[in-house]
Amino acid sequence: MASTHGAHGILVASNRGPITYQTQDDGSLHAKRGGGGLVSGLSAIGPDADALWVCAALGDGDREAVRRGVGEDGVRMLDIDAEVHADAYNGIANSVLWFVHHMLYQTPLEPVFDAEFRRQWDAYRAYNRAFAEALAEEAAEGASVLVQDYHLCLVPGLLRALRPDLRIGHFSHTPWAPVDYFRMLPDDIRAELLDGMLGADRLAFLTWRWATAFLDCAAEIAPERYRVTPASEASRSVEHLDGAAPARTLVGVHGLGADAEFLRARSHEADVEERIVALREEIGEGRRTIVRVDRTELSKNIVRGMLAYRQLLDDRPEWRERVVHVAFAYPSRQDLAIYRDYTAEVQRVADEINSSYGTPGWTPVVLHVKDDFARSLAAYRLADVALVNPIRDGMNLVAKEVPVVSDEGCVLVLSREAGAYEELGEDAVSVNPYDIVGTARALHEALAMQPGERAERTKRLAAAATALPPAQWFLDQLHALEA
Ligand code: F6P
Repeated sequence: MASTHGAHGILVASNRGPITYQTQDDGSLHAKRGGGGLVSGLSAIGPDADALWVCAALGDGDREAVRRGVGEDGVRMLDIDAEVHADAYNGIANSVLWFVHHMLYQTPLEPVFDAEFRRQWDAYRAYNRAFAEALAEEAAEGASVLVQDYHLCLVPGLLRALRPDLRIGHFSHTPWAPVDYFRMLPDDIRAELLDGMLGADRLAFLTWRWATAFLDCAAEIAPERYRVTPASEASRSVEHLDGAAPARTLVGVHGLGADAEFLRARSHEADVEERIVALREEIGEGRRTIVRVDRTELSKNIVRGMLAYRQLLDDRPEWRERVVHVAFAYPSRQDLAIYRDYTAEVQRVADEINSSYGTPGWTPVVLHVKDDFARSLAAYRLADVALVNPIRDGMNLVAKEVPVVSDEGCVLVLSREAGAYEELGEDAVSVNPYDIVGTARALHEALAMQPGERAERTKRLAAAATALPPAQWFLDQLHALEA
C-alpha cells in the first residue's frame, strides 16, 4: 500500500477551487483567481507545507485546462463527467441539501423524493467517490485532509475506507438542519449522510447552533450507533458504538471572521474611490442609505428586505426622498430555474417600488446585479444602515465586513437566523426575517440612531467581526485536527 501513497501532507477538498479558467476567442485559457478563507489559510501555512487543493472542474474552461494539462502547483482539478457533476451539484447539493439545511421547502408540494432523486443521489455518490479516490491517491502517510461543505458529506467515510491512516476533518459552511427537518430525508439517505460525515476524525461548524443541530441528528436518528458526550470545554465527541473506525469523532466550532487588514487596504484603492463618487451621484445629495450586498441565493431574503423597505416608506413617509435602498444582488446558481426565478423576482419588486414611489429626483431602490467587488466595498464604506436579513445563513460575512470598512459608522440590521448573530447580535438591531412590519420598524430605528451610538456600536461590531481572521481560522482547524 505504502508505495501508492502520494506526497502531500495537507490536503483541502472543495467543489469550487481557488482558480477558474475561461477559453478566450483565440483558444487560449484565461485563469481567474478567487479569494476567501481557504485561500488565506493555505497561503498562511506557506509553500513548504506542500499542500494540495483538490477541487472539481466546473465549466468548459476548467475541463479544457485539465485536458491540456494546464494548472497551478498545489491545485488538482477533477474532470468529473459533466452530467454526474451537474446531478450532484445542481440536483442534490443545491436543490436538496441546501434546501434542507436552510429550511427552504414549500412543504405542501415539496420535497418529492422520487426515482429521479435516487438517480441524482447515485451521481452525488459517484462525485464524492471521485474526490475520495483522488485524495487517497495524493495524500502522504498520516496526512491531514480538510474536506469542505455539503457537497462532500460522503467523502470522510469513503476516504477512511480507502486510507485509514489519514486524519480527516470536515467543515460545514452552512447551517445544519434541526432534527425534525432533517428527518424529511429518506431514512437510508440521512443515515448515509451521517455515516459519511462521521467517517471524519473531526467535524467543525461556524457556530454552536449548527454543531448542536448536527449532534442532535446523530443522537436521535441513530442512537444505537452514535452517542454524544462532552469532550472538552471547546468540543463534543460522538462515540461510535458499533466498533467501526474511527472510535470517535470530535465536533468543534470555528467562527470565520473578516480579514480586516485586506479589507481596509483594498477599500481605499483608487477603483473603490471612483465607485464611491459614482454611487453618491446615483443616490443623490444628502440622502441616507440602506445597503445590502448578496448573491441571489434563496436564503438571503432579498425580496422581503425590499418589502420591508416599502413598508418603511408607507409607515414613515418622512423618509421618502431622504433614503435610498442600495441593493447589490449578484446572480448565483443560474443553472437552476428556481434561482433564476428568484433573481427575476428581486428585479420585479425593485422596479415596482421605483415606479410606485419614485419621483423625478429620487430613485428609491438602486439595484445592481453585475458582480463588482470594488463597488461592493464602496457601498460598505458609505452605508448608513446595512441590511442583512437572511432566512438562515451559516455565518454571513457581509455582516462582518461592513463594520470593518465603514467610513462613519453603520447600523447593522441583522437577522437572528444568521450565524453571525451569535457574535454580533448584541450590537446589531435584530430582526425576525419573516416579519416585514418588524423589519420596517428596525430600519427606522437604525436610520434614526444618533451618530455617537452608531459609531460606538460599529467599533464593537468591527472588533467582534475580526476576532478570528481567515488565516487563523484555517490554522486553528488544522491544529485541532492534528492535536
Ligand atoms: O456560503 C456558503 C457556501 O457553502 C460556501 O462555503 C461555498 O463557497 C458556497 O456556499 C457555494 O456556492 P457556489 O454554489 O456558488 O459554489
